[in-house]
Amino acid sequence: MNQINHTPVMLNEVLNFLNPKNKGLYIDCTFGGGGYTKSLLNSYDCKVLAIDRDSFAIQSGLKLRKTYSNRLKLVNDCFGNLEEILDNNKILKVNGIALDLGVSSFQLDSAERGFSFKKNGPLDMRMGSIGKSASDIINTIDQESLYKIIRIFGEEKYANRISKAIILCRDKKPIHTTEELSLIISKVVKGNNSKIHPATRTFQALRIAVNRELEELKKILVAAENKLLPGGVIVIVSFHSLEDRIVKKFFSDRSGKVSNNRHLPIKEKYFPTFELITKVLRPSDKEVRNNPRSRSAKLRAAMRTSAEPWPEGEFV
Ligand SMILES: C[S@@+](CC[C@H](N)C(=O)[O-])C[C@H]1O[C@@H](n2cnc3c(N)ncnc32)[C@H](O)[C@@H]1O
Repeated sequence: MNQINHTPVMLNEVLNFLNPKNKGLYIDCTFGGGGYTKSLLNSYDCKVLAIDRDSFAIQSGLKLRKTYSNRLKLVNDCFGNLEEILDNNKILKVNGIALDLGVSSFQLDSAERGFSFKKNGPLDMRMGSIGKSASDIINTIDQESLYKIIRIFGEEKYANRISKAIILCRDKKPIHTTEELSLIISKVVKGNNSKIHPATRTFQALRIAVNRELEELKKILVAAENKLLPGGVIVIVSFHSLEDRIVKKFFSDRSGKVSNNRHLPIKEKYFPTFELITKVLRPSDKEVRNNPRSRSAKLRAAMRTSAEPWPEGEFV
């Protein structure tokens, strides 16, 4: 397996906030092409446990594993299972956690993975190889549920039209390719003045649904609260507003600040478990010029306090 091609996004900022210590243990929740992991291992005498749900990403990391055998562990799993993964590896607490959400360039550019409307391929979109694919979903789901996926996860104002068109077409003939789906959408959303391709939001929505991306994000935030050492840092780079909103809200609640509504009481029954260590950060102009895929990135970081975690499931 060749090395996966992916330019790490906001790498310097991620490392800066993680502030790695020699002998520390860091979790790279989204190994991908290994950009964060490699820099951590090259620059510090630390250990990294790297996770990816995509077995290709993990296979491509085996070379790195040879170089850093006793400092790198690769795990093919979902980061939402972090607590079980740590338990299985007899790890109680960690010094830092990094996430670079979404798909890698390698996944996006591989037509056979079905993530891109720009490349014809099977309508798959699974980052791992288990569970329902995008075509499984759109060929079986009812219109109301499909509408909700496209509307909520894609924030698509034409969700009604698009979901109706998909149901109409799939009832005649199941939809199996990215091109078929993209054509169906383009026919009903032509003439809108948007700069983005008409299928962009629907593809994003299906990808989020297929990979349960928002559930995964909520699970890792709670896991970070349970597993970070006091002073340990979680750094998250996200690429769309749904993800960023979840991170922002979690950090804001857990750091004792209540956002948006000044009439809500500050949670007094629990002590803050996180301290914000930066405002939201965007990539520099230079990074965006060199790597246009970084343009929508937003980085947030918070440091674990020594307060007890909030009770399980307390995700506001
Ligand atoms: C944007 S890439 C990460 C790139 C990496 N930072 C680098 O520098 O090469 C995101 C990776 O995270 C993985 N991923 C996304 N969601 C995941 C999840 N819930 N659990 C495990 N891996 C996930 C994807 O399969 C993909 O390989």
